[in-house]
Amino acid sequence: MATYEFVDHAYDVVVVGAGGSGLRAALGAAQQGLKVACVTKVFPTRSHTVAAQGGISASLGNMGEDRWQWHMYDTVKGSDWLGDQDAIEYLVREAPKAVYELEHWGVPFSRTEDGKIYQRPFGGMTTDYGKGIAQRTCAAADRTGHAILHTLYGAALKHSAEFFIEYFAIDLIMDEEGACRGVVALKMDDGTIHRFRSHKTVLATGGYGRAYFSATSAHTCTGDGNAMVLRAGLPLQDMEFVQFHPTGIYGAGCLITEGARGEGGYLTNSEGERFMERYAPSAKDLASRDVVSRSMTIEIREGRGVGKDSDHIHLNLEHLGPEVIKQRLPGIAETARIFAGVDVNKEPIPVLPTVHYNMGGIPCNYHGEVVTMKDGDADTVVPGLMAVGEAACVSVHGANRLGSNSLLDLVVFGREAARHAATIVRPGTSHKPLPKDAGDLAVSRLDRFRNAKGERPTAQVRLEMQKIMQSDAAVFRTGESLREGCEKLQRTVGSFADVRTSDRGLVWNTDLVETMELDNLLGQAVATIRSAENRKESRGAHAREDFKERDDAQWMKHTLCWVDDKGHARIDYRPVHLTTLTADVDAIPPKARTY
Ligand code: FUM
Repeated sequence: MATYEFVDHAYDVVVVGAGGSGLRAALGAAQQGLKVACVTKVFPTRSHTVAAQGGISASLGNMGEDRWQWHMYDTVKGSDWLGDQDAIEYLVREAPKAVYELEHWGVPFSRTEDGKIYQRPFGGMTTDYGKGIAQRTCAAADRTGHAILHTLYGAALKHSAEFFIEYFAIDLIMDEEGACRGVVALKMDDGTIHRFRSHKTVLATGGYGRAYFSATSAHTCTGDGNAMVLRAGLPLQDMEFVQFHPTGIYGAGCLITEGARGEGGYLTNSEGERFMERYAPSAKDLASRDVVSRSMTIEIREGRGVGKDSDHIHLNLEHLGPEVIKQRLPGIAETARIFAGVDVNKEPIPVLPTVHYNMGGIPCNYHGEVVTMKDGDADTVVPGLMAVGEAACVSVHGANRLGSNSLLDLVVFGREAARHAATIVRPGTSHKPLPKDAGDLAVSRLDRFRNAKGERPTAQVRLEMQKIMQSDAAVFRTGESLREGCEKLQRTVGSFADVRTSDRGLVWNTDLVETMELDNLLGQAVATIRSAENRKESRGAHAREDFKERDDAQWMKHTLCWVDDKGHARIDYRPVHLTTLTADVDAIPPKARTY
């Protein structure tokens, strides 16, 4: 192994990732007087939260009566009873406070006539335990994530969080006792290697949508934190639950917000039929995402898709009128024009279910502490390690997330992780000496990929993985397709030993990062497809054609999946938390899920 000089840093808290959850955690920790570093591979306001469109849920009741108990019911039902009800109670009760906090920091929310935060309907959000449609999703037109991200970055800077921008986090520093002591990162512009020591390391590294061929996720969504956790010998949870958003633009994959249907848009098939009326008679186009994506897929399979190959669906907004489009949906009008060549005032948008969100991730309790299975206890806290946002699996989304609960998850649990860290870490506490091998894992991977001159270019291996995931771990799955997917993926993982990092002879740091990102994605792809193969039921986003029903007796449990460096997976399960956090509300017993 080559010898490297490390550049060493010491902080109370190090946050990896500067999207909504990372910024909220960094800001919160800095507010508590902790010395905070935020290490991010892209400029903070380019983090993927910037692409969130439709809004953030909270039972403010600005547009009609609403209650956190109804929000809780919808979220538990949306999760298909795989969400942990204690964490869900925490999420929805904290929601109004978290949104008002954003408002006070300056998020430019859209307004009602009387100046309140504007709220729109979103899929699966109801009033009175499913009886009516709620207007619960707080929106800044269709650029809510953009507005929140910019505001949080400004607030974090004001509170003196320190940013390390375009630093690619490679691996965690774990000690002999299994505690996390920090993280190693590559500074991409000059190739120097940095060790960040911290009392709490908070992974806020987002999802891994780019394991698939077509995703609304940015190219940077490679789940780097999830992969670091796997390499530290810890499990990921519920990775089989991958959300397909019903309305990605056909061919391009760009997101068309669910807010478009919230504002009155609807889907039609080749017969011009509003087919969601058949599948979800009550909520129709505003059923939860898994239900709408499956219905669209069935329409296409049964020959009622639109277009010359009958392989997609139409989203109609023409009837909304230019005023609504201009005021509420200006961003998607632009996106539809650029990526589909469509004027939304005149013609429907061609759409297709597209990978959008990972319900699974790093198992955490609701304080953001990473937990693992130890001596049969699946709630054992990993000292020093925390996770928030899409990287984390708290689990509030269970088997299927409701739209607009994601921005909420980012700020509620980002804030709670910071608050909790501050109860444990005293500002300025000195650090123990680092373990002797601190940084060795990261350096050995850098060495390996810098010198990888094999036969298979990174892009080729990546494309192979993405196609396998797209075809064999899709909206509908069968045992056969999953088993086949596992075998093909195993071969792809094996072939990665023969990867070639660069075709130019010279290895740029960007080449190196792309190859390390692929390494990260491969482990998560294995966890996803193996967990899906093992779960022999249908629940939320995991729809098995060979096991069509939900099976609470056997499968109301979270999957834990470990993947070793050869791509071999080991699976275990942990119980779902079916009790609430307080006595203010009863747990919601499982029942059939219809919309
Ligand atoms: O459709 C959307 O605007 C996406 C929102 C979300 O995923 O929460």
